[in-house]
Amino acid sequence: MKFEPPHDLRGRTLLVGICGGIAAYKCAGVVSALRQAGADVHVIMTDAAQRFVTPLTFQALSNNPVHTDMFGEGTAWEIAHIGLVRKTDALVVLGATANTLAKLAYGIADNLLTTCVLATRKPVLVAAAMNTQMLDASATQENLRTLQERGVLFVEPGSGFLACGETGEGRLANEHDILSAIELVVRRAHELEGERVLITSGPTREFIDPSRFLSNPSSGLMGLALATEARGRGAQVTVVSGPTSLRAPADVTVVSVTTAREMHAAVMEHLPGTALFIGAAAVADFRPAEYSDTKIKKSGAGRTLVLEPNPDIIADVSAHRPPGCFVAGFAAETDEIERRAREKLTAKRLDCVVVNRIDIGGGAFGARDNEVTILWGSDGREAVTRAPKSVVAAALLDRIQQLRRHA
Ligand code: PMT
Repeated sequence: MKFEPPHDLRGRTLLVGICGGIAAYKCAGVVSALRQAGADVHVIMTDAAQRFVTPLTFQALSNNPVHTDMFGEGTAWEIAHIGLVRKTDALVVLGATANTLAKLAYGIADNLLTTCVLATRKPVLVAAAMNTQMLDASATQENLRTLQERGVLFVEPGSGFLACGETGEGRLANEHDILSAIELVVRRAHELEGERVLITSGPTREFIDPSRFLSNPSSGLMGLALATEARGRGAQVTVVSGPTSLRAPADVTVVSVTTAREMHAAVMEHLPGTALFIGAAAVADFRPAEYSDTKIKKSGAGRTLVLEPNPDIIADVSAHRPPGCFVAGFAAETDEIERRAREKLTAKRLDCVVVNRIDIGGGAFGARDNEVTILWGSDGREAVTRAPKSVVAAALLDRIQQLRRHA
């Protein structure tokens, strides 16, 4: 028999939402296990959840009052805005129904649970439970994806006999997997506390004249996914971003720039005190040697554009890194991608490099998903399968933390 170390959640405060499905009775066991693992557990129940199990059950198991009413005396205000949401290490939604997932995806705050999820910046972990067809429905799948892209974490539902009489996917994940996921989430939530993370993101633009520039299709999504993940782990995050239509997460400092030289200057200004630098920006390697203040007029003849090199930002960061600063780069390649990326790893003196493929139409550029390989040292290698960029960001930070621990 495999030995599983006991779960340890001593000193952790958890806000646990219970949704209205038959799995609510199993959630009682999870709440009990959380308390036995040492967590201070505060339960919120939706109206539908109370049809399946009474609040008294969860009160007895958690040893805390159970919150059910959005408009109860002092409850909503205290919990949603200044009380538990602030004090909690993570918010866990147990037995999430298709209905609650849809509300969370659309930001509908019509009960205490969905209000708390909307109001928190703490990690949110969801363990869904529902009938297979409801889980497979494209609306539910799209909602799950939306939430995942925003950084919500999931414990995969299990398969087996369902209360509706069918057999399939949709059972609440087992207690052990839920507790392991919660442990991971709360550990991650503090792991970059007190550390400064500096990220470059998005494209740069190199103007030829006031109406034309050289650039690339980077959207800034990968950089912002990394910023969200680093902030979620407690870091103080600064993003130096080229032009993007995306909005940075709250609590992240954004320095907006246009050209590679502006990005270089902003990075060097913010570098002191940085513990982790990640170069996710697609920086133009060259800029036009000459800039015309007036729009270049069309003429029948062809034109030759002379280019000159831009500063290599990440190479300069590497060379002037603060003591102990870890430097992670990206490499976007069309061919021989790992060989070229390893060359960059060495030439730019990076601690690791994330390789992604570009092809006609962009590939990793501008896409919602990415498939990458992380390379480090002489032969370190981890493949991250295609997933939303939020998931890729989490995998990269996990790897970086492991490399930093063993440096
Ligand atoms: O923004 P998205 O649409 O989400 O797309 C994400 C991405 C594809 C842009 C991102 O995942 C990515 O691969 N970024 C790096 C793209 C790139 O320009 O790679 P590169 O091989 O040219 O550069 C290697 C490394 O040097 C990168 O870390 C880059 O930021 C850095 N660099 C490059 C040139 C330069 N002058 N200064 C730099 O710092």
